[in-house]
Amino acid sequence: MMDLDRVNAYMARVEESETKTFKPVSSKLKVGLDLGTAYIVLVVLDEEDNPIACEKQAAQVLRDGVVVDYTGARQIVKDLKEKLEERLGTELVNCAIAMPAGTESSVKTHQYVAEGVGFEVTNILDEPSAANSIYQIENGVVVDIGGGTTGLAILKDGKVVQIEDEPTGGTHLTLVLAGNYHVSFQEAEAIKQDYARHKEILPVVKAVIEKMASIVNRYIDKSQTDAIYLCGGTCCLTGIETIFEKETGIKTIKPANPFLVTPAGIAMNCKL
Ligand SMILES: Nc1ncnc2c1ncn2[C@@H]1O[C@H](COP(=O)(O)OP(=O)(O)OP(=O)(O)O)[C@@H](O)[C@H]1O
Ligand SMILES: [Mg+2]
Repeated sequence: MMDLDRVNAYMARVEESETKTFKPVSSKLKVGLDLGTAYIVLVVLDEEDNPIACEKQAAQVLRDGVVVDYTGARQIVKDLKEKLEERLGTELVNCAIAMPAGTESSVKTHQYVAEGVGFEVTNILDEPSAANSIYQIENGVVVDIGGGTTGLAILKDGKVVQIEDEPTGGTHLTLVLAGNYHVSFQEAEAIKQDYARHKEILPVVKAVIEKMASIVNRYIDKSQTDAIYLCGGTCCLTGIETIFEKETGIKTIKPANPFLVTPAGIAMNCKL
């Protein structure tokens, strides 16, 4: 079972590091670059994995986990890196990157974005496995629902035995909301991210979430799966875990803030 208190405390600290810069135990810093379809995030940890600083920006430079706007991606990463270096008063060098399962052919593009801004890529991993560096579960499935993709990692005895990725995510929920409320994508996105409206919108997007849960159903062996552990921005949606639990029949757990789990997990795997 996941130690939810530990994860919540750690993720609260990562969230805090968006606005507050913490003092590292040494000058050696780890960086995780998460190039997402909805957000680009850079997380900085010290060599003992304490959260130090974090910057993110909404961006549409990837589709289905693949970089479609190299110049745009590079510019955003450059800006975020500079912001962090300004905050820390030091240059950031080493960095880890990750990609969704099944997009290994785009490893090079991800790497070029990082190298294009002066990073040295010291580790490359898959996204749901990165998330499990935070969760540290031994048995079960980690499901990362982002903006454009749903990734999952199945764990047995602490080892990742299978990773999968499907092109569905929060963008689909936003489109459904835009259609139902007759508003623009941007307005629907704002409604979706407003916690005060989650109760109202949940029934509207329920069918899409059931479809996401059915993806998980397709890949897991129910008799062997103890629990589903959610992460990714889309899992901020209040009540998503209940729909997953009903659809799969498996206990579903999510931390207080599932948003920065994958980028923080990527940073943890940065080799120094
Ligand atoms: N408070 C919230 N409530 C509901 N959804 C949210 C909330 N905050 C963010 N999201 C959604 O989370 C998604 C982004 O999540 P995340 O940053 O994990 O995606 P990503 O890593 O960029 O995408 P991907 O992993 O698919 O490449 C967006 O669709 C956004 O609308
Ligand atoms: Mg993601």
